[in-house]
Amino acid sequence: MSAHSPLIAPSILSADFSKLGEEIRFIDKAGADYIHIDVMDGHFVPNLTIGPAVIKALRPHSSKIFDVHLMISPVDSFLKDFADAGADIITVHPEAGPHLHRTIQTIKSLGKKAGVSLNPGTPLSSVVHVMDMIDLLLIMTVNPGFGGQSFIPLTDKIAEARTMISATGRPIDLEIDGGITPITAKQAVLAGANVLVAGTSVFKGGAEHYTDNIRALRGEA
Ligand code: DX5
Ligand code: ZN
Repeated sequence: MSAHSPLIAPSILSADFSKLGEEIRFIDKAGADYIHIDVMDGHFVPNLTIGPAVIKALRPHSSKIFDVHLMISPVDSFLKDFADAGADIITVHPEAGPHLHRTIQTIKSLGKKAGVSLNPGTPLSSVVHVMDMIDLLLIMTVNPGFGGQSFIPLTDKIAEARTMISATGRPIDLEIDGGITPITAKQAVLAGANVLVAGTSVFKGGAEHYTDNIRALRGEA
């Protein structure tokens, strides 16, 4: 593994929902670093997925970091439920509530790591004043709502985000989500990403391919 090998966060949105516990055990064993869980409300994004009860049920299946990406609005009233369910990182979108700073304060007060996710059209300036509080900055390279979309090449935005993170001197993850394949993974890492979310390209082919799929995203294939 090279020094620039990224962490891989499989998005369980592309897993077999009829056996999520088993799927999580498989990706854990296949080398996943974080387990990325996409929560959608049919309002903030045009899709409905899973809630805290499912996350709670999945928690015993892996001790890896549960990286919970909340695409729900309003988000504040659900933060405690996701914290109690076993989230390790809770990531919100700035548009999902009226007071981003307060939302991050709440996540931190629940003892969890806080992330902020920026849609392709949302500028980096939305996080300038919370950079001293966050643990993860998620740059979306698709419009949120569905797996299997094409990567939007926002490499300048990723590079600028890396510069902002370096300026803080804090260990903030720079995570990229959407359309990650071995080819776009390389582009994202070269631009400065250190965590890659991938649904389609991790789960394709079934469980016997998960290890190779993850290795390919790390640039090890
Ligand atoms: C999209 C989700 C992503 C998605 C990624 O709203 O946030 O995590 O599952 O899926 P792929 O890797 O298929 O683009
Ligand atoms: Zn996601």
